[in-house]
This record gives sequence, structure tokens and C-alpha cells, in this order.
Amino acid sequence: MKKIVIAIDGSSACGKSSTAKIIASELNYKYIDSGAMYRAVTLFFDQNHIKLTNPKEISKALENINIAFKVDEESSLCDTYLNGLNVEKDIRKMYISEKVSEVSAISEVRKAMVDQQRKLGKSKGIVMDGRDIGTVVFPEAELKIFMTAEFYVRAERRQKELLGKGELVDLETVMNNLSKRDQIDSSREDSPLIQADDAIEFDTTNLTMEEQVDEILQLITSKIIEENSLETQKL
Ligand code: DC
Repeated sequence: MKKIVIAIDGSSACGKSSTAKIIASELNYKYIDSGAMYRAVTLFFDQNHIKLTNPKEISKALENINIAFKVDEESSLCDTYLNGLNVEKDIRKMYISEKVSEVSAISEVRKAMVDQQRKLGKSKGIVMDGRDIGTVVFPEAELKIFMTAEFYVRAERRQKELLGKGELVDLETVMNNLSKRDQIDSSREDSPLIQADDAIEFDTTNLTMEEQVDEILQLITSKIIEENSLETQKL
């Protein structure tokens, strides 16, 4: 069966990562949370006091950053590693969310991350979520999904997610962070968050996780069947 590349883009907290994770596991595909990579870079810059206005310092710092994903045997979840250390919990904290959009708007950072993301997708069979996966990282992806959800629903979901990780943040703070990040992520010069022309828009506002996974799996199945029949016709 031909393996494909599935790109899922959309703003924060619209359900991309949770959906992508389940889908990848159902398909036995690799799952890459590209946002986690930008969060890991943000953590490194923060820990090492890298000046965001100094391109030389940024390029040097990027040479010292190694990001990897490993599956935790106990939870079966995919954790993010920064230079060999598990930073999954740290990168999800609110103070990283407050700094990540500024860091991910830096072209040097984007170039380094996009290079790594393309390498990870070279042999296909991958689900990657982010902001520019269908437009910049994999413009040739066989299936592109652009996820949306109403703002208030996104904020409530993110607040719940933070609480699940032991961080109690009031809704107003979460809403302010989401709207600030939406604004920076969609208006930055380099690779802004926009829907690719050939992406399917998918609104998750009124869907449960189960429903959204089911609907997306149906889209994927049709796509894989279509790709395989095209392949057969070529033979
Ligand atoms: O998906 P997330 O909220 O964890 O992403 C964190 C930040 O990373 C987001 O505010 C913008 C940035 N990002 C990006 O610029 N490009 C991507 N492909 C993924 C994330």
C-alpha cells in the first residue's frame, strides 16, 4: 500500500495534535508535532539567554540544538527531547507559549526546523501538524487539512489541556495568549499561517475527538485508495 504525507495545519488549540497523534497511530505512520520543535527551540533560547535580535547568536545557538521525538514506553505517547533531555512537560508550559510565536517568526529558526521536518518526511508515511506544513514544508503532500474551531472553544480546550498537565491558568490569560499568537502566526512575513489552496477546511467546533478522528480517517482512506489506483494505472 502506497504511503502518503498528511499535512494538518491550523491555529493553536483547534485539535490538530490530538487528532494527528491518533490518526498516525491508527495508520502506523510517523507523527511529528512541528509546534513542539519551535517550543523546544524557544526553551533553549530562554535557558541560554539568546538575544532574539542578534541573528549571529541565533544561528550559533541553532547549531547546538538537537531535537528528537521518542515514544514513552509506559504512556505510548511521543515525547520531545532537546539535546538528549526529555522536555515534553517544560515546552507545554504557559511561559513557553508566551514566547514561542516570537521565536518561530525568526527566519533562521524556520529554515533550520523546515530542513529537519523535510528529512523526517522523506520516506512518507507521516502525519505532521503545524502552521506551514501544507504550504511550505510539504507543498506536495497528498492530503492537506486546514483545521479550524471557534475561538472560545479553542480557549476552553487549551485551558483544560493545561489543567490536565497540572497548570491552572484563568481563561482570560489563555484567551489573550491564543489571540496574540494567532495574530503573530498569521501576520509574520516568513511562512504565515494560511490555508493552502488545495487544503480541505475542517471545522472541529462541534465535534468530539472521536467524531473528528473518524471523519478525517475517512478522508485519508479515500485519498489512499485514490493514490493507489493512480499508481496501478501507471503500471
Ligand atoms: O502547535 P503549537 O501551538 O504547539 O505551536 C507553537 C508555536 O509554534 C505556534 O504559536 C507557532 C509556531 N509554529 C510555527 O510557526 N510553525 C509550525 N509549523 C508549527 C508551530
